[in-house]
Amino acid sequence: MCGIIGIIGRDSVSERILEGLKRLEYRGYDSAGIATLVNGKIERRRAEGKLVNLSQRLAEQPLGGDVGIGHTRWATHGVPTENNAHPHTDGKVAVVHNGIIENFRDLKAELAAKGRVFASDTDTEVIVHLVSDFLDQGKTPREAVQATLHRIEGAFALVIIIAGFHDVIFGARRGTPLAVGLGDGEMYLGSDAMALSHLTNRLIYLEEGDWVEMTRDHVQVRDEHDNDVTREIKLSAVSGAMMGKGNYAHFMQKEIFEQPAVIGDTLHSFINPATQAIKLPDMPFNIGEATRLTIVACGTSFYAGLVAKHWIERYAGLGVDVDVASEFRYRCPPLPKGGIALFISQSGETLDTLAALRYAKSKGQKILSIVNVAESTIARESDVVLQTFAGPEIGVASTKAFTTQLTVLACLAVTIGRENGTLSKEAEAAIVHALTELPKQAAEVLHHDEEIRQLALNIADARDVLYLGRGLGYPIAMEGALKLKEISYIHAEGYAAGEMKHGPIALIDQSVPIIVIAPSDELFEKTASNMQEAAARGGRVIFLSDAQGLATVGDIASATVELPKVADFVAPILYTIPVQMLAYHVAVHKGTDVDQPRNLAKSVTVE
Ligand code: F6R
Repeated sequence: MCGIIGIIGRDSVSERILEGLKRLEYRGYDSAGIATLVNGKIERRRAEGKLVNLSQRLAEQPLGGDVGIGHTRWATHGVPTENNAHPHTDGKVAVVHNGIIENFRDLKAELAAKGRVFASDTDTEVIVHLVSDFLDQGKTPREAVQATLHRIEGAFALVIIIAGFHDVIFGARRGTPLAVGLGDGEMYLGSDAMALSHLTNRLIYLEEGDWVEMTRDHVQVRDEHDNDVTREIKLSAVSGAMMGKGNYAHFMQKEIFEQPAVIGDTLHSFINPATQAIKLPDMPFNIGEATRLTIVACGTSFYAGLVAKHWIERYAGLGVDVDVASEFRYRCPPLPKGGIALFISQSGETLDTLAALRYAKSKGQKILSIVNVAESTIARESDVVLQTFAGPEIGVASTKAFTTQLTVLACLAVTIGRENGTLSKEAEAAIVHALTELPKQAAEVLHHDEEIRQLALNIADARDVLYLGRGLGYPIAMEGALKLKEISYIHAEGYAAGEMKHGPIALIDQSVPIIVIAPSDELFEKTASNMQEAAARGGRVIFLSDAQGLATVGDIASATVELPKVADFVAPILYTIPVQMLAYHVAVHKGTDVDQPRNLAKSVTVE
């Protein structure tokens, strides 16, 4: 989940590499660095921490050179110091790397025994020394890179430059994505289309096992067996303009406030305006004939899957299994013959989710995916892609991607119910109506911003926070807890309200805020009882409900937020917004790094 970029250019490259790294910083921000070839020699600038530190270093010590590589790091092996920052080099070879070299210990021992001296604690450095060693044995740069790729194991994307060789740059992809950008008399490599969007929109996405040798005018892709291959050139739709925060203090805040618009955009692409009927893209299989659906995802996207399970089982009568990808892939679950598996991912690059997809494919499943990044690997490897139209999500904590995933999943649930005859026309019309009201209601929820900011002040000192919900509110409780812990570093857990009495209720005292998610739906009375049990034990309850719910039991709570009354079906989409806002304001009050919380990265391309 690091970001990498390489340019073999006509003129100086370091500024353009830095610009690409800015677009990749969402992938990791532990350290950053650039290396170029200057008069045949490798020159390098690196800095610990965010990219701004590297920018400052470059301002003090500018870097020339028309061939170069850059990296922004999310640390895996080795603490995030400058010494462990990429690019790594021995003076002869420089490498940037995203992923993990699994056999690095054996290789390091072997190379150290030959007298090679390692300067960092990283797995990456073995690549440098392997290439160097092969060059010392008399191999050409191409042969040395090829031989190195045969020695290393794991999942990685790499870019390599070699001292004295101004006219060539190498890249390789195994497990993690790498795109080739085609320029006019220059060529580029980058982790994704966004990294190269300021340079070109003509891209070749390397396939699994591919490696590439590039001069300024020619790109030669080879497959895992070293055969020359031709890969299709695609035109990327990613805009070259750098996305800004506008008038917002943080990307996360901007993205929360974009939700009415992006939920609307997503609905517009799946609801026929003339008939008000949901219309998904044509599928090469009949989803109405599915006997079971497997949903796999990670983190926030997994919680979207849990909401979908509820919708699809309840409204479409289809059994759904939901799993986190990192568990699913190693359990080797049996999958129904001709079954359908659905993968949910904002980035479309999450390695565990991708590996689970490949497993499901190998078991003959039809692959459906919901992604936000249309050109991502998960999208490219799916039979059918349902896109969320959230636009670029830059804040590391997922917000608008989640509510648009739910929007798409709602449309999918309705489609399955219609196709298999479970959902009546009237029920479908009622759900579609409720969905089309959502953008307006989401905008109403945003009006509670100041009120929620005030509530946040009372939570910011808490050590633990509990979130409770039932039914469709339960995954939102977990999502609320995840948002709070990842950006404010406060310990938080989401529980099924009915589970409290089986253990977690022991945690409750006056110091523990309890956020209760309880629209006045058919489970309301039960959730209200659980809330009463918590309040009776001194818990500080913050109650999210509608006017009806507040009128019934609002007086038990220490604080309330009144949300619009909505149909039960769409409530999880709406109730997500206040829990996002609460987490955001707690984090701002605590002064944490809201958009780039510690230890995290946006695109998780390691296991
Ligand atoms: C939390 C968050 C993560 C992601 C998870 C999956 O706010 O953003 O939990 O949801 O890493 O990422 P995608 O959806 O890109 O597969």
